[in-house]
Amino acid sequence: MSRFALIISMIFCSVVAYAADYTNVIVPRPLSCKAGEGEFELSTKTIVRAQNESLVNAGKIFADDLSAVLGRKLTVKKLAPKAGAINLVIDSKLASEQYLLNITKSGIWITGGTERAVFYGLQSLLQIAAAEDVARGVVTVAAVEIDDKSHFEYRGSMFDVCRHIFSVEDVKRYIDILALHKINKFHWHLTEDQGWRIEIKRYPELSKVGAYRDNTLVGRNRRSNTYDNTRYGGVFTQDEVREVVAYAAERYMDVIPEIEMPGHAVAALTTYPHLGCTGGPYKVWNRWGISKDIYCAGKESTFEFLENVLTEVLELFPYKYIHIGGDEAPRDRWKVCPDCQKRIKDEGLANEHQLQSYFMERIERWLNERGRSIIGWDEILQGGISKSATVMSWRGTKGGVAAAKLGNNVIMSPNTYCYIDYYQTSDPKANNEPLANGRRPVTMRTAYSLDPYAGLNEHEQGFIKGVQMNLWTEYIATFDHAQFMLLPRIAALAETGWSYGNKDYDDFSRRMHILRKLYDKQGFVYASYFFNGVE
Ligand code: ACM
Ligand code: ZN
Repeated sequence: MSRFALIISMIFCSVVAYAADYTNVIVPRPLSCKAGEGEFELSTKTIVRAQNESLVNAGKIFADDLSAVLGRKLTVKKLAPKAGAINLVIDSKLASEQYLLNITKSGIWITGGTERAVFYGLQSLLQIAAAEDVARGVVTVAAVEIDDKSHFEYRGSMFDVCRHIFSVEDVKRYIDILALHKINKFHWHLTEDQGWRIEIKRYPELSKVGAYRDNTLVGRNRRSNTYDNTRYGGVFTQDEVREVVAYAAERYMDVIPEIEMPGHAVAALTTYPHLGCTGGPYKVWNRWGISKDIYCAGKESTFEFLENVLTEVLELFPYKYIHIGGDEAPRDRWKVCPDCQKRIKDEGLANEHQLQSYFMERIERWLNERGRSIIGWDEILQGGISKSATVMSWRGTKGGVAAAKLGNNVIMSPNTYCYIDYYQTSDPKANNEPLANGRRPVTMRTAYSLDPYAGLNEHEQGFIKGVQMNLWTEYIATFDHAQFMLLPRIAALAETGWSYGNKDYDDFSRRMHILRKLYDKQGFVYASYFFNGVE
């Protein structure tokens, strides 16, 4: 392109912006997008007319978010659709996560199969508005007809609030970031070796003992021997948990609590040493890694404790799925524990792997009887699993592939593509990345290249319910840092989850540069490596 043509095209682009090819704007990429005739002036005077109370709420969240673009909040009311407005409507003939976004000269219509789908239509409209130029509280959006639908039903992100704890406001902000990307599951990792983070009324000592560690490792695990001098911890009260769950529900997001068992349990064992094989004493961990001390699978008191904990958990979390961990549970203590060995004998189990299966299946049955289903990390496959367990594949995709071949539902969350506690560039040192986990980086390109169906035939692919990114926080002590790890990589996962079959990395990269403007307007913190062309 000549210099002259380049200047003209730059001027043209900034005036007629995206000429309604909003497939060039929205992340995750929409299924279809047809340019219409003319444009609509969206201003602070435009009213959002919602069909029902839930949609009024959705409209208010949109108005809040859009105020970062327009400078003022739109009015939202429960009203029948009308020209000149943004109209939010349900059409149950559409799929549950399908919306039509129609921008015309005479108004905007968002029609969704469910309220959640309308909410996603609003996220697309927000991204469109943020991409265009705003002048004096008015943004001109081009006429367009978008028909969009999610590919995977499960699009999630896990936040570990145990290695480091974050405030309720931080957790809500995390949920905001997910919602913008049409993520619909928030997996909340609440119990660990380094801290128990959920108030259980029956066991108040968990909040006093299990929720605190004496100090914390400084620097890299296994390399450093230095600890700070600060007692560290805290717990989310049940009221706070309810507040987070309600906040997520307003954004049509399901919350999946994770109560880890039989491993990653040192905080609980410190509080109640009789729950371990040796009887302790134990100490809430102040460093990272895998503990050999896990719940005793032989003693009935372990199951009594976990069932009592889960009874309260079920009251707080209405979504069907409960994550019960299952990962990284060394068998060392079980091998020499008389109670565990007696259990193996009494139940006719072959070995400690089957003892873990006994453990998980017993808790699963208890949850099933209460109308719930379990998700577990891929270790739950060892020793056999029930048909109804959902496997979250984290040690690569192998576990997920094996589970799908067995006919179990699977969420693909392989560390190689989905662990956002890992470095973001191939040369962390040269790029001054803060200390992170992982041997190999998860760059944007890597994250984007996940194919959750790889290695599976069409029938087996049906068991892949979706994808998830995980943010473990060993080296992440502040929420700014957490956002820096989450953004922009969560956008890559969102596109695999929502737009599978319709992905193109170069196209995605261009759209991300546009979405970045919205990140700025919303005040999100993000890593700029990708935006600066550093991989
Ligand atoms: C895990 O990363 N241990 C699930
Ligand atoms: Zn034991």
